[in-house]
Amino acid sequence: MEILKVKDLVVNYGMIKAVKGASFCVNQGEIVALIGANGAGKTSILHTVTGLLSAKEGSIEFDGKDITKTKAHDIVKLGMAHVPEGRRVFGDLTVIENLKLGAYIRNDKAGIEKSLEKIYKRFPRLFERKTQIAGTLSGGEQQMLAMGRALMSNPKVIVMDEPSMGLSPLYVNEIFDIIREIHESGTTVLLVEQNAKKALSIADRAYVLETGNIVLDGDAKKLMDDDSVKKAYLGE
Ligand SMILES: Nc1ncnc2c1ncn2[C@@H]1O[C@H](COP(=O)(O)OP(=O)(O)OP(=O)(O)O)[C@@H](O)[C@H]1O
Ligand SMILES: [Mg+2]
Repeated sequence: MEILKVKDLVVNYGMIKAVKGASFCVNQGEIVALIGANGAGKTSILHTVTGLLSAKEGSIEFDGKDITKTKAHDIVKLGMAHVPEGRRVFGDLTVIENLKLGAYIRNDKAGIEKSLEKIYKRFPRLFERKTQIAGTLSGGEQQMLAMGRALMSNPKVIVMDEPSMGLSPLYVNEIFDIIREIHESGTTVLLVEQNAKKALSIADRAYVLETGNIVLDGDAKKLMDDDSVKKAYLGE
């Protein structure tokens, strides 16, 4: 079942055409990767899907509803959470305050406590640092916090923008292991990455974006064997 369906999406910044008619879908239970070089339009697509930017043309359907014109906080309520590029944690707030902000759409206190417990189990490092000011966390820890914060809304779909960016190889592996765990626990994942090798290795399917257009898509493992993908994105 298609949980997210994007059709003929066009996104402009004034005269700049960032996304030029992209169509893709995510089925429930999948990990779908969107790969592409700097400036290809990956973040623009995610921002439009999550309601932070508006589409110039095209449509976005989520969980059977047209969300093309739906506001960001209502999209979170419908069950889509966003882990933004560059983490964007609240640097002056503690870990626990950041996590609780992720639950701003919920008012079931007991449920929120349960979610917190779950997140501390998944990210023991966040538990150890729950009263630490988020701005003093390492890059990898901030990434975990951004993921934990998104999970606090109990999403059906989690959308992640470059979670491995700027992290050491050890942290990159850890972050990808966590993405796999999040997926195994039943959350559908739309993953934007420049680390194409890692992204394709955990994804079911992938789309390749070039200057605002989807130029290739298919089974992630098959794309890993595609000569043009190897050359352009896998450094082989
Ligand atoms: N706020 C903005 N104003 C004007 N142009 C923008 C803005 N944000 C992005 N763009 C342009 O839109 C295009 C797509 O940018 P976008 O950030 O979506 O790419 P990306 O694939 O996420 O790149 P990266 O890998 O560097 O994060 C680029 O040409 C970029 O310069
Ligand atoms: Mg980006």
